Amino acid sequence: MRHLIDILDLSTQEIQELVDLGGRIMEHPERYAHKCDGKILATLFFEPSTRTRLSFESAMLSLGGKVLGFSEAASSSAAKGESVADTVRTVSCYSDIIAMRHPKEGAPVVAARHSEVPVINAGDGGHNHPTQTLTDLLTIHREKGRFTDLTVGFCGDLKFGRTVHSLISALSRYEGLRVALISPEELKLPSYVKSEMLKKKGIEYIQTTDLESVMPQLDILYMTRVQRERFFNEEDYLRLKDSYILTPEKLRTAREDLRILHPLPRVNEIAVAVDQDPRACYFKQVRCGRYIRMALIMKLLGIPEEE
Ligand code: NCD
Repeated sequence: MRHLIDILDLSTQEIQELVDLGGRIMEHPERYAHKCDGKILATLFFEPSTRTRLSFESAMLSLGGKVLGFSEAASSSAAKGESVADTVRTVSCYSDIIAMRHPKEGAPVVAARHSEVPVINAGDGGHNHPTQTLTDLLTIHREKGRFTDLTVGFCGDLKFGRTVHSLISALSRYEGLRVALISPEELKLPSYVKSEMLKKKGIEYIQTTDLESVMPQLDILYMTRVQRERFFNEEDYLRLKDSYILTPEKLRTAREDLRILHPLPRVNEIAVAVDQDPRACYFKQVRCGRYIRMALIMKLLGIPEEE
């Protein structure tokens, strides 16, 4: 039985297969409409979500399966003090596959250990978010046609932004990656990610507080929200929340073939005027999220593409 806890649980070959399958599903969703007939996905969301939970549900429904679950810890037995282990042991009796989001780093590992069905990490605290990364990779592949030789700027909250940690891990396995880490001092990429994913692998990177200084070199600009819910005090959040606001003005020096990604939700960090720019890809990215999750569910359930 396979789980997806960390993006590195998948080999680069498996990622390529998922991206290819996601692309094929996107072209002909009707061919996959009954792949999961009779299967049930449980979505256990101990933390708020719009896209991730609904895209999982949409993915399973689009495959002909059914979904059940909860969208906040308060409406589950966690509110009565039940452990993640017991909740998952129970839910794995009711479902064929589980997608779980939890505020505690490592909770999905505990879940996987106690589950009788595949567990997908749909975000654990400030740690990882592998299915957002698959979404990002499908988007990058569709826009750029490659994962190699890319200069990628990550901008915003690199400390708590789990989507950033997972995407850096994933991209660190491809040749010719160059990374620009753009953040305020207080929100720099954690040193464990820097040493494991960048230094150890000899990846060229720079750290800066100045987005405009690196803009002309970027193939991809990955914007992120300042993660309010992970701050210890509101004052720090208020001081840092508007550190970067991408505007059409700031994009003047950017390349024509730059692609702007954002896992969403956006708060203030991308001006609405940028949405009209052909380089803005964040809503296309949302679309990719549904199809790549269909591919992932099929893979983890061992459902072949051809009958
Ligand atoms: C991200 C998350 O939950 O980590 N959102 C998402 O899943 N698309 C990013 C965020 O909340 O800022």
